[in-house]
Amino acid sequence: MTTPVNVTVTGAAGQIGYALLFRIASGQLLGPDVPVRLRLLEIPQAVKAAEGTAMELDDCAFPLLAGIDILDTPRAGFDGANIALLVGARPRSAGMERGDLLEANGGIFGPQGKAINDHAASDIRVLVVGNPANTNALIAQQHAPDVPVDRFNAMTRLDHNRALSQLAQKTGTPVSQIENLTIWGNHSATQYPDVFHATVAGRPASELVDEAWLAEDFIPTVAKRGAAIIDARGASSAASAANAAVDHVRDWVGGTGSSWTSAAIPSDGSYGVPEGLISSFPVRSANGGWEIVQGLEVNDFSRARIDASVEELAGERDAVRELGLI
Ligand code: NAI
Repeated sequence: MTTPVNVTVTGAAGQIGYALLFRIASGQLLGPDVPVRLRLLEIPQAVKAAEGTAMELDDCAFPLLAGIDILDTPRAGFDGANIALLVGARPRSAGMERGDLLEANGGIFGPQGKAINDHAASDIRVLVVGNPANTNALIAQQHAPDVPVDRFNAMTRLDHNRALSQLAQKTGTPVSQIENLTIWGNHSATQYPDVFHATVAGRPASELVDEAWLAEDFIPTVAKRGAAIIDARGASSAASAANAAVDHVRDWVGGTGSSWTSAAIPSDGSYGVPEGLISSFPVRSANGGWEIVQGLEVNDFSRARIDASVEELAGERDAVRELGLI
């Protein structure tokens, strides 16, 4: 049998964890021929709940699931990890300032980055889902000096999928007919979903929708979708977030083909995004790594919105620097 791939999931007992683990164990992350060993990393208070999820995973009798370990220290959790999905994070509580939020998450993602540096497998790939995802990814990356910087990503694939679905509904086209949408910037309300290079059944999307719809409807709907789901469901997006994490890693490892997707990856300075910021770009994957799609024309409508989101990211980076978190 092929050697199992070790997949660490933090926050495994949470709601995204509950939606994610079964998808991974069933083979949807790495394909039907790749066995996986799950490493569930939780805080001690949530280990019992993680044990319950592990019992259910056992009860699915997934042929590809080679084992489950439940761990409560980063050192043990990332030992030998090939893929790490960092889902567990400190949510913003009432009255919490941005600095407090960043500091609380620095206390999680700094030590996790160090443990990844010291104990993960040499091919480790890290996807940060827990918010503020881009800056948490930056913190983890900065604590892992021996890991290539591009192995740290943050997730904007849920935003990408939300944008696909909105454009499909507006144009009455199946999502499978839409290509080359982009989410730029931060996974936050400032993100910019860009349709100017997208095609809908082979036609430029910009011929099918106007700027007023983009500015007043599409962009705010995509950017505020998380809040709308909390309002309707009484809980934040979980299955769709887990689905996006599966999409992201599957494409990262397996490749995208000619159409592109969106992922927050370390900037190389492309499109005026300061080098090093973990910002969402149009990306393709081949041979196990992402490449930023080059040469796209950025119009004034897009430029202002990309710049605003990137400025927010730079502000978060400066804040975590000032706090001594990176
Ligand atoms: P949840 O509260 O249901 O679960 C979080 C879990 O993380 C809990 O079981 C908690 O015990 C665990 N946890 C906390 N600190 C930990 C640590 N230091 N190590 C290991 N585990 C730890 O939250 P949910 O709904 O699963 O969401 C998780 C995160 O994902 C949140 O930060 C949320 O904002 C974010 N999110 C990101 C999205 C994206 O598109 N990037 C979309 C949706 C959610």
